Parts: sequence; C-alpha cells; structure tokens
Amino acid sequence: MALILGIESTCDETAAAVVENGRAVRSSVIASQVDLHQVYRGVVPEIASRAHIENILPVIEQALKNSARTFEQIDAIAIAQRPGLIGSLLIGVTAAKALAWSLEKPLIGVDHVQAHLYSVHLESRPTNREPRFPAVGLVCSGGHTALYAVRSWTDIELIGQTIDDAVGEAYDKVAAILNLSYPGGRPIDELAAQGDPKAIRFPRSTLDPDSLDFSFSGLKTAVLYRVRGHKGRERDASSLSQQELRDVCAGFQQACIDVLLLKIRRAIARVDAKSVIVGGGVSANRGLRAAMQSFELPTFFPPIEYCTDNAAMIAGLGDVLLSHGVTADLSMDAIIRSALVKR
Ligand code: KG4
Ligand code: ZN
Repeated sequence: MALILGIESTCDETAAAVVENGRAVRSSVIASQVDLHQVYRGVVPEIASRAHIENILPVIEQALKNSARTFEQIDAIAIAQRPGLIGSLLIGVTAAKALAWSLEKPLIGVDHVQAHLYSVHLESRPTNREPRFPAVGLVCSGGHTALYAVRSWTDIELIGQTIDDAVGEAYDKVAAILNLSYPGGRPIDELAAQGDPKAIRFPRSTLDPDSLDFSFSGLKTAVLYRVRGHKGRERDASSLSQQELRDVCAGFQQACIDVLLLKIRRAIARVDAKSVIVGGGVSANRGLRAAMQSFELPTFFPPIEYCTDNAAMIAGLGDVLLSHGVTADLSMDAIIRSALVKR
C-alpha cells in the first residue's frame, strides 16, 4: 500500500494529488489557467510557465491538506516528466525534485499520455471489471490524438496518431468559428445533444484503408466553409439560427465520433484486442461515451473529473511504476516528447 503525491504541469493546468494504492484518490487539486488563455483561444507557453510558478507550491500544499496526510506519510513523489511544453514541464519537475530531495523520498518520472490511459483505473475497486490486455488505447485530448497497443499499464506501443490537428484542437477551433467559449469541447458537446447529427454531413477523413492515423484539419475547414460561406468570407456564425448552430455541432461531433470509432475498430483487428481504453479531455464527450455504450468489446472511460489534465492519474501510474522499481534520480530531465513510440 503506497501513498503517492502526484504533480502535473505539462500544459496549462497546475495540479497535485494524493493517491493511495494506485486507485483511491485522497485529494486532487487543479489550478486551471483557462481564464488567462481564453482571449488567445489557445495556450500561450510563456504565460503558462509564469502561472505554474505562482501556483505550484499552493496547489501541492492544498493537495496535502485536502488528503489529511502529511509530507512524512507520503511514500514517493510522481511527476509528469513528459510530454508537454518545456517551460511548463520544468516548473513541475523542479518542484518534484526539490521535494524528493528534501523529504528523502523516491522520485518517479511519469509519461503524461500513458497516465491518461491509466486514468480509467482511478477510483475503481478490486472487484470492478478491469480492462483485459492487450487493449486498444485511445488518447484524445487538446494536444494528442493517438492509438496504442496496451499490453499492460507499463508496456504500451504507439500504433497511430494524428497527422495534423488533435481532435480536441478541432473542437476548440470549431468553437472559435461558432463564437462559442474556449475550450470548445463542452459547449459543442452540449449543443450537439440538441441538434440533428444527420442534418449536415461533414467529411470523414479515414486516410488509407488500413491506416491507424487521424486527420481532422479537413473537417475543421469544412465547418468553416459551411458557416462562413465561399472562401470562408461571406458571413459569420451570427447568421446561423439556433437550430442551425445545434445541427452544425451535431454534424461535426458525429463526424469526429465516426472517425474515432472506425480507427478503434481497425486497431482492435491489428492488435487482437480484448478491451478498449479511452482517455484524455475528449473522453469526457457525452456523444462519444453514448456511441461506445453498445460497443462490441468492453470499453473503459475515466471518471469524468479525471478525463482532462489532473495529477491523480500521475500519482496512480506512479504507484505502478514504483511497484516495478522504476524510480528516477535528481538528474531527471523534462522532456518534450512522449516515451510511447512506434516499435
Ligand atoms: O486532456 P486535456 O485537459 O489536455 C490535453 O492534454 O490536451 O484536454 C483538453 C481538451 C480540449 O481541447 C477540450 O476542448 C476537450 O479536451 N474537451 C472536450 C470535452 N471536454 C473537454 N472535447 C469534447 N467533448 C467534451 N465534453
Ligand atoms: Zn493531457
């Protein structure tokens, strides 16, 4: 039974969490920077790093306090070491090293993408249904859209990825076209639920017949032309009726879901999977969850609060790594790229 303090600062969320036994979340604190980046409709790296510096220590202290545990009771410190924005990563990695050194506790470097997959395991009980391996893993977020062959929580191979936009990025850009708030996933998801997914058919980019890669930039452009007319310059989203707005959202969301499901099915055949794991911000999507309810294999989604970036998933996977003896020393670096690669 290990008690792990997890720290996450890869992008624009400063987060810390205390997790027991790799599953039970004792506290999870997230300082979101959405307000700072909203006007730019995207994350500004320099602003993100500065906000992490201000937030990191209060967030860690709050996580400890909420967990009703002390630093002395923590067994190890897990840090999201990769992938992410270098300035953002460095703040978390430096804080984690300083804590590990001063408390004389083990330090564990965690891959953020791998942790998004692991997040389906959080708050589960030993009696729950568990994913059977090999599983197909889909990480769909603002920064990533990729498929993995998951053979265990620590043996994961990249088998496909987006060649342009991530699906969450497409949501955020379509939300901008539709004058909706940032980040765009949730408002589009809510409007889509009230629209007709068949009213407007947007293109589905499936690439080569056996490709496990994704492309969402054509879909985004198709929405732009549909809303703004020829060359995207004739009108803007204010000319849409409320029902047209809902139908655009529903049609866009259906195109995303169809492509994600098609690629998941291709991946299942490729790795002979026994289950499917979906993580990352877009795994909060109600339409995607509903579409996978009657899926032919058991599918696993994280609890809603652990879909978007959080430190509980970092602490949880940190526990697994610690049990495998995978720890780091103080020479640990922040790394821009994921450790999960094609073999
Ligand atoms: O995992 P995350 O917090 O950050 C990255 O690692 O990128 O994901 C954020 C992304 C944003 O693009 C946001 O629009 C999207 O997740 N998102 C959603 C939903 N909630 C958040 N996309 C679709 N439907 C949602 N309900
Ligand atoms: Zn993420």
